[in-house]
Amino acid sequence: MRLTIEEQEMLDGKQGPGVQKAMELLVALGETFGAERMIEITRAHVALSGQEGDTYFCELLVRGGAKCKIAPSTNPSWDLNLTKYYAVTDKELELNRKTIDAYKKIGAILNFSCIPELKDNVPTFGEHVAFSESSATPYVNSVLGARTNRESSPSALAAAVIGKTPEYGFHLDENRKGTVLVNVEANLKDEFDWGIMGFYVGKYVGSEIPVFNIKNLNKYHLPEKMLYMGAELNTSGAVAMYHIVGVTPEATTLEKAFRNNKPKFEINVTDKHIKQTQEEISEKSGKINLVMLGCPHYTLDQIKDVAKLLEGKKVHQDVAFWILTSFATIELAKRSGYLETIERAGAHLVPDTCIDEPCWKSFEGGLGITDSPKCAYYRERRGQSFIIRRLEDCVEAAIKGEI
Ligand code: F3S
Repeated sequence: MRLTIEEQEMLDGKQGPGVQKAMELLVALGETFGAERMIEITRAHVALSGQEGDTYFCELLVRGGAKCKIAPSTNPSWDLNLTKYYAVTDKELELNRKTIDAYKKIGAILNFSCIPELKDNVPTFGEHVAFSESSATPYVNSVLGARTNRESSPSALAAAVIGKTPEYGFHLDENRKGTVLVNVEANLKDEFDWGIMGFYVGKYVGSEIPVFNIKNLNKYHLPEKMLYMGAELNTSGAVAMYHIVGVTPEATTLEKAFRNNKPKFEINVTDKHIKQTQEEISEKSGKINLVMLGCPHYTLDQIKDVAKLLEGKKVHQDVAFWILTSFATIELAKRSGYLETIERAGAHLVPDTCIDEPCWKSFEGGLGITDSPKCAYYRERRGQSFIIRRLEDCVEAAIKGEI
C-alpha cells in the first residue's frame, strides 16, 4: 500500500502505541485485500459484543493512548436492569463493565443499538464509512448507498481511531454491481416474509450480490422489511450488499443493478419456497417459556403493532415476553402510550441489549418463539430452541402459553 507521510508515522508509532496498533491492523487488512491506499471515513459503527476478544482489543488501544477521530456508534451491550430479573455471573458482569468502560474511554457513542443506520448514525449516499454488525452493513450499502465493507468490531474500531480505512471491496465501484438475479413471485406480506426470503436466498448466494426483482412490491414497513432481509441474508449467507430494482439507489433499473453485465445465475422465490423455508428452520410446536422480539431491534412502528395486538390481553403466567429496542424508542413508546399497553399485558421493552447476551441463559433448555430466524440461530447455539413465526402468531402463543 502507498501510505502518506502521516500514515507511515502512525504505523511507526510516532502517535503512540494505540494508534500504531490500529494502523497495523488496517494496513494488514489493506495488504490482504489488495488496497492501494487509505481513504477517509465519515462514520463508523462498532459491533461491541462484550466478547472477550473485542474488549481486549479496545482496552489495548486505550492503554496505548488511542482516541477515536470519528466517534463510532455502538451495538447492544446489555442492560444492567436485567440482572434484577435474571442471573448473570460476577465474571459476566465484570466483562460487561470493562467493555463499557473501555469504549467510553476511547470516545465511542454508547447508544447500544444494532440499527444505528435508521436513526443514530445515518450515512448518506456515497459516504465512505466503516460499519460492523451484519444486519447494518447491507442496509448501509444497499438502501442508503453509502460504502462499507463487512467490518469486524476490531477493524471498525481501528478505522474510527485513524479516521480512515483501506480502499478495497465495497468502497470501489466495480465491486458493487449485482451478480445474481432473484425473481420474486412470492406475495411478501410483512417483514417476517422478507426475513424468511433473506434466509432462503442467503443459502444460495453466499457472498454474491443479489438483485431482487420483486413482482408485487408492498412498500408498507419497507425499512423494517429491508432490515429483516439483510439480517437473514447474513444468517444463512454473508451478503454485504444487495439491490432491489426500483427501490435501492444503485438499482433504478435491472440493467443498472448489473451494470450491463449478465447475472452468474438466477433464483426464483415463490410462496412455496417461503413456506418450506419457514417450516425447515422452525421448531414445530409446544409449550413456550419465552417470546423474544427485536432482533434486529424493533422500531417504534413495530412496537406500535405489538401494543395493538396486546391491547386488553394478558401474557400467560409461564411465559416471559421481551422486546428488544433502543432507550430512545422506549421513551417514544412511553410518550405515545404503547409502553403502558404492553406492560399492562405483562410484556416488557428492554433497551441496549441483544439476544446473544448472557442474561438470557435463564431460559435455556426451554422452547421460545420469535419472529426472527437470526434470533433463533444465535439462541440455539446457546441451548434454546425456537419456533419461528410472524408477529401475530408470537403474540397469540404468548397468551396461550403454547402453539
Ligand atoms: Fe441485534 Fe443482537 Fe440481533 S445485535 S440483530 S439483537 S443478534
